[in-house]
Amino acid sequence: AETATHYMPSDRSLPSLRAAATHCQACDLHQCATQMVFGEGSPSARIVIVGEQPGDREDIEGRPFVGPAGQLLDDALRGLEIDREDVYITNVVKHFKFTERGKQRLHKKPNSREIFACRPWLEAEIATIRPDTILCLGATPASALFGRDFRVTKQRGEVMATDWCKRTIATWHPAAILRMPNLDRRNQMHQQFVSDLALALDR
Ligand code: URA
Ligand code: SF4
Repeated sequence: AETATHYMPSDRSLPSLRAAATHCQACDLHQCATQMVFGEGSPSARIVIVGEQPGDREDIEGRPFVGPAGQLLDDALRGLEIDREDVYITNVVKHFKFTERGKQRLHKKPNSREIFACRPWLEAEIATIRPDTILCLGATPASALFGRDFRVTKQRGEVMATDWCKRTIATWHPAAILRMPNLDRRNQMHQQFVSDLALALDR
């Protein structure tokens, strides 16, 4: 199967990677999305925060985590007195996947083929930044980095060494917190999200 390796530039700086990813056609997702959404933030960030894939807002704006989930993440970072510019925020998959229902574009989970195809971009971002810590938001990045057996419900908030980084941590996806109908449960997940973020940031 084709992967993003085919589109990889020889210069692995973040601007070169981003420019190259703009032309990626390693899976079908580039066909329907508005644009490729690369990671953004500081090249000297000590932490890389990894989401699943761009959502509706991100697809339109061309930046990761700028919709409701991003708002929750930004608020949590601000609460810990961390500037968003000082971290690096990216996604496992760089193009939005959706189904249309009327005027709405409903987010669809990327499948294993798409995750596999896109993986070289994330690997290259991490290899270039060489962070101390990687924080996975939700099951898609957690499975990609820890393996398929990882369960966010059981193993979130634990610091583990992986091939990717000596400090790899998973927590809830902000969208999962926002979707939680039970208010007590939602508040609990939110508190856990903030404490996992604090642990990841050494705060
Ligand atoms: N959800 C994600 O996983 N990533 C984004 O960039 C936005 C929402
Ligand atoms: Fe390439 Fe990833 Fe976009 Fe697929 S989702 S076309 S692999 S950048």
